[in-house]
Amino acid sequence: MEIPIKTICCIGAGYVGGPTMTMMASKCPDLIFNVVDINETRIASWNNEDLSKLPIFEPGLEELISRTRNKNLFFSSNVKEAIESADIIFISVNTPTKTTGLGAGKSSDLKWVEASAREVAKYSKGYTIVVEKSTLPVRTAEVIENILNSAKTNSSREEISFSVLSNPEFLAEGTAIKDLDNPDRVLIGGKNKQAMTALSNIYKAWVPEEKILFTNIWSSELAKLTSNAFLAQRISSINSISAICEVTGADVREVSRAIGKDSRIGSKFLDSGPGFGGSCFKKDILNLVYLAEYFGLTEVANFWESVVEINSWHQKRISEIIVKKLFGTVANKKLVILGFAFKANTNDTRESAAITICKNLLNEGANLLIHDPKVTASQIENDLKINSTKTSENDNYSLIEKLGNWEHIKSIHNLEIFNNAYAIIILTEWEEFRELNWREIAKKMVQPAWVFDSRSIVNVKEVQDAELSLWRLGDGLGN
Ligand code: NAD
Ligand code: UGA
Repeated sequence: MEIPIKTICCIGAGYVGGPTMTMMASKCPDLIFNVVDINETRIASWNNEDLSKLPIFEPGLEELISRTRNKNLFFSSNVKEAIESADIIFISVNTPTKTTGLGAGKSSDLKWVEASAREVAKYSKGYTIVVEKSTLPVRTAEVIENILNSAKTNSSREEISFSVLSNPEFLAEGTAIKDLDNPDRVLIGGKNKQAMTALSNIYKAWVPEEKILFTNIWSSELAKLTSNAFLAQRISSINSISAICEVTGADVREVSRAIGKDSRIGSKFLDSGPGFGGSCFKKDILNLVYLAEYFGLTEVANFWESVVEINSWHQKRISEIIVKKLFGTVANKKLVILGFAFKANTNDTRESAAITICKNLLNEGANLLIHDPKVTASQIENDLKINSTKTSENDNYSLIEKLGNWEHIKSIHNLEIFNNAYAIIILTEWEEFRELNWREIAKKMVQPAWVFDSRSIVNVKEVQDAELSLWRLGDGLGN
């Protein structure tokens, strides 16, 4: 018998909950989607009339929101009401790495997942399908089931019952809408076939049936961690090769192209960069490491941990190269940082390589001017954790807010910002950085002036013609 589905609730209106429910709402106009969050500021931003003020920047999101919001998609803080009316509840809350206690530094902090499960236990009515959308350690479904079942025994509401499913999300930030619209696969893990079918029916509104995979619940949880671990491993692999390229005269872009033509390897995720960032790769690998250690699989744990270690080493290596090229010191030198987000087309800075590299340079005494088209000054301040000495006075440059020993630049159109800079360091691959007028910029800088391109986006000839010294990741340039 088919389970009737009319109303969906999503707990967590973040980078996953927001876009995922928006896509579902746009594809399933007959279903109601209630997205709830304890963060009222975030909910207010999701409800902002001005779509440029949505809490996350994601190409294509504004258009989808304008078609669905307040029609069959609702954002609110009313967790109780949303749970009570839901046939399916997605748990899409944050699962960061624990910072204290058992498993600190490796295992995921499940306190938000547990709190969500307890809310579901408290308010749900009748039969409810509870879906793990967050990325979770293997066997978390068991924890959720225990919490839900204990509510059943403790409650006078005898009619409540649950099925727990795993339905991990594979979207990448910056391409979330495209990824959700045309996913490589939709993974549904569980043991109740009727519940799995009910969930798959939502996706079938736009995803071809052959792309919807059913597995057991533990395989689904583990497949999500494994998928991120494999992707991150490719980046660490190519970044390690970039260091070899720099000393041998090989070019990492040519090596990537050559190996990517092998259909067994494939060409994606072979771009060498300043090291992977984002909220998930490091967290999910460390989760896998913790799992392997827990089961005494030391060699397995060491193998995956090295992927994270290479990433940290690589970021440190880039910081050191910058200092060495600038005659061994950056103290009191003005350096312009272009890009702070962990990748282009997002305002997310979690685990961004820019945070580590900027902190390293600040520790060396540098004066940084930081620009990112979508990251705010307050976000940068939060990430760098440097006490702000913010003044409302804008002095030298009309577009700059002063923030202690680093400054935020809102726009790079006024080339005055490059005045007396010793170097420009490109850390995120935003399109606008491809179009800089190097000849004009060079005139403003202190000679010998450097461009450090960690994303391989500048036109080498234009930079060299402007008589700027260029260091590019993964080849002999600048050595
Ligand atoms: P996020 O921090 O952007 O959003 C999580 C939201 O959950 C926050 O707004 C928070 O206030 C809310 N929340 C926490 N506890 C709550 C509660 N008890 N009730 C209501 N709301 C609550 O996180 P995110 O980036 O959306 O990631 C969510 C999960 O999805 C994580 O497990 C992550 O690993 C996974 N994931 C993330 C991505 C990504 O690209 N960001 C992609 C795939 C999977
Ligand atoms: C990643 C995965 O790609 C998604 O499938 C997954 O759902 C998500 O993590 C998650 O679980 O959170 P995301 O972190 O948003 O998505 O972005 P990616 O495109 O994977 O980039 C991650 C990092 O790797 C970025 O810092 C990016 O610059 C870097 N990267 C990516 C490279 O350095 N080289 C590449 O070739 C690709």
